[in-house]
Amino acid sequence: MSLLPTATIATIGNHAGETVTLAGWVYHKTEKGKLIFIQLRDGTGTIQCVVFKKNVDEAVFAAAQTLTQESSCRITGSVRADERAPGGYEIDVNGLEQVGASSDYPISPKEHGTEFLMEHRHLWIRSARQHALLRIRAEVIAAAQEWLNEQGFIRFDTPLLTATAAEGTTNLFATEYFDLGQAYLAQTGQLYVEAGMMSFGKVYCFGPTFRAEKSKTRRHLTEFWMIEPEVAFATHADNLVLQEQFVSAIVQRVLERRGNDLHTLERDIAALERVKAPFPRISYDEAIELINARYTEVEGCTPIQWGDDFGAPHETLIVQQFDRPVFVERFPSAIKAFYMEPDPERPEVALCADLLAPEGYGEIIGGSQRIYDAVLLEQRIQEHGLNVDDYRWYLDLRRYGTVPHSGFGMGIERAVAWISGTRHIRETIGFPRMLYRIYP
Ligand code: 4AD
Ligand code: MG
Repeated sequence: MSLLPTATIATIGNHAGETVTLAGWVYHKTEKGKLIFIQLRDGTGTIQCVVFKKNVDEAVFAAAQTLTQESSCRITGSVRADERAPGGYEIDVNGLEQVGASSDYPISPKEHGTEFLMEHRHLWIRSARQHALLRIRAEVIAAAQEWLNEQGFIRFDTPLLTATAAEGTTNLFATEYFDLGQAYLAQTGQLYVEAGMMSFGKVYCFGPTFRAEKSKTRRHLTEFWMIEPEVAFATHADNLVLQEQFVSAIVQRVLERRGNDLHTLERDIAALERVKAPFPRISYDEAIELINARYTEVEGCTPIQWGDDFGAPHETLIVQQFDRPVFVERFPSAIKAFYMEPDPERPEVALCADLLAPEGYGEIIGGSQRIYDAVLLEQRIQEHGLNVDDYRWYLDLRRYGTVPHSGFGMGIERAVAWISGTRHIRETIGFPRMLYRIYP
């Protein structure tokens, strides 16, 4: 015997007039005398199931009466088209059985504070808004991977336990690794994906990455997922074209397939429809000029000097000038990672770019052309206070058939926050890990 449903709510229209069995959870229930209205959710959608006392056995009506919010049940009934129903259909119930009881479900339709909801994240993810966000997340991940696969990229998985730093030494999570000393949770898969690139040409890695960020902002997680393409023979210019095509394809696919979820989230669709390549590009130098000329326009924004990094208000000011994502390119090498290729015409800046999302969602992509020359790379490793011996294998990539190459990393949660229009990154992942949160 199987307990599986014979239909799902998302595709219930294919069963109009038929009798089906649905299986799910009670989202909401109201009773009006001889009628009980159950909002059933099955993960694909919600539908109203109507229990009419006259049409069912006494035991079925009694079972319906005992159902509470989030109890699980299996419901059998006929699918009736109804223009007034949100999804266009309702279920006229014939049979019903409770599968698992739920008493005093902590999350009621009334307002709850964020702290309370975060403590109940394992239940909160059942709510309509969270459900829509996490579906968009799944779509972004699928779109990103499938687009790269179609473009001929090979997925190349990189280790999470590593011996070295790649994105600075101040935000590493360390752990004892048997007799071999300290290991660190990967901040990025990049260095290893570069080795994969030398084998396959076009690769990407995708997985969790870790940053022991002491910052408590709405954009930072300590554990986030990153997708990182890397391409042999690609220059900085090629890298930007790849990024704008990649991001446009993802956004357009979410618009096509997750319209309902965007609607649930009340996302401004027109803003997403504009996200089409090419994206504007400004240099770091131009960004500094812009900031110093107009910093009074954004709260908390201050003038800055050449060589300073941007804060969130600076990024907000920059993106306000544009109606789609914008590349800021050629940052000073001194404020970027050790592996970035210097601009041959201006060695003090790197052939790199950050892609800033519109509407103040911040940096969604960081990328660069990588250093080609073994001698320069070794020098940069030393200048950054790193131990050259730990990077022997990485330097080998420059000793055996080195090529100009470029790549980038897109943070999934930052991209989802922007695409879904969610202010805080904590809602874009099932179980966010932050400075003050490791439970549940
Ligand atoms: O700019 P980042 O640090 O770049 C790298 O890690 C490169 N190795 C990527 C590469 O070239 N292969 O991080 C890339 C992206 C950021 O643009 C942001 O979207 C996300 O990762 N990110 C974070 N997301 C959430 N919380 C954090 N603490 C993040 N730090 C970076
Ligand atoms: Mg960055």
